[in-house]
Amino acid sequence: MRTQVGIVGAGPAGLMLSHLLHLRGIESVVLESRSRDHVEHRVRAGVLEQGSVDLLCRTGLGGRLRREGLRHEGIELRFAGESYRVPMTELTGRAITVYGQQEVVKDLIAARIAAGGSILFEADVVRLDNLDSDSPVVHFRRDGHEEKLHCDFVAGCDGFHGVSRGAVPEGVLTTYERTYPFAWLGVLAAAAPAVEELVYAHHDRGFALHSMRSPEVSRLYLQVAPDEDIGTWPDERIWAELRTRLETVPGWSLNEGPVLEKSITPMRSFVVEPMRWERLFLAGDAVHIVPPTGAKGMNLALADVALLGDAFAAWYGRGCPDLLESYSAKALRRVWRAQHFSWWMTSMLHRLERNDPYETKLQTATLRYVATSRAYATSLAENYVGLPEI
Ligand code: APR
Ligand code: PHB
Repeated sequence: MRTQVGIVGAGPAGLMLSHLLHLRGIESVVLESRSRDHVEHRVRAGVLEQGSVDLLCRTGLGGRLRREGLRHEGIELRFAGESYRVPMTELTGRAITVYGQQEVVKDLIAARIAAGGSILFEADVVRLDNLDSDSPVVHFRRDGHEEKLHCDFVAGCDGFHGVSRGAVPEGVLTTYERTYPFAWLGVLAAAAPAVEELVYAHHDRGFALHSMRSPEVSRLYLQVAPDEDIGTWPDERIWAELRTRLETVPGWSLNEGPVLEKSITPMRSFVVEPMRWERLFLAGDAVHIVPPTGAKGMNLALADVALLGDAFAAWYGRGCPDLLESYSAKALRRVWRAQHFSWWMTSMLHRLERNDPYETKLQTATLRYVATSRAYATSLAENYVGLPEI
């Protein structure tokens, strides 16, 4: 099998790259270890920055997004019995759209298939070879047989646990990492959201977030211990804890309903540099992870491949290597801005490990500063809606 760009992973990064390449007349094959059904139903993040929405709409993927996506012009912060709305659109002119990652994935898969694109599901990439030549080979296993995909370039879009990053020789990559002493327990519930905008709550018992997926479905999160056993969280305990942490505003109460899905996600910050080695280009979660507090994961994945799409277009269209050469440095500027913002939001809003009273006072002071300073609120808002150029 042969193609121009071999893409490992059918998450937002790999699928979007394949779509962008197709629009530029460049061939690709996407290899995905899981089934189509699995990737289309995996519950993940749900906030699109303005730039991500623009990218999806510009490339013909705006139909369902415009109909079903929920445009939000602010977020709410709750802390110390107070509540404050960050008026994002008023401060920045931009907004976010709540639209589940798996919906983006479904739309991308549908578009690729409609265009005759090649996505091989249940094709597990086991090894990348010849990356330092002009004919790399992707080895994958499908139906119990090992097969080969020959290509000009490989895009490693296979997430944190993928194989691509590991194909880079030792000593080339530098890793920057931080783990946090907590995780998020996420719940999808058949309950009408009790809020119109997302609520980020800082509470003595830990952070809580009220998000949503539609007018009928709420998405809720609770800070828990990193080694928490989901078995110790029956639905009733989850609702009680959410009520405690979110019902801190007089007269406001949570809507409850059947829990459709629940899972625990560890929190980590992680960056690998550079994002390229020879003919391997890494994108998305394969090279950087952010804690979800800033809602940046999916947006970074899309921003990476937007750069890669332009870079491959310049290479195949004009034989110009400049954008491929500058890809890593350019992408990393956005990555590090998002790293800082995600770390900052996380540190401001969670119950910290030692529950140190001094640190807790600093958190409240920071939240109050956001609530009272237009300059500080604007800084939060412009990061949250996404900076166009970095
Ligand atoms: N062979 C083929 N596919 C693989 C392999 C492999 N060896 N290893 C992993 N994959 C697939 C995974 O099954 C997954 O579908 O790569 C895909 C990677 O997709 P994502 O994890 O969604 O990563 P990415 O496209 O970078 O999107 C980042 O996902 O986790 C969220 O918060 C994160 O929103 C962010 C987004
Ligand atoms: C979500 O809706 O899943 C969501 C929203 C905001 C976040 C993280 C996750 O910061």
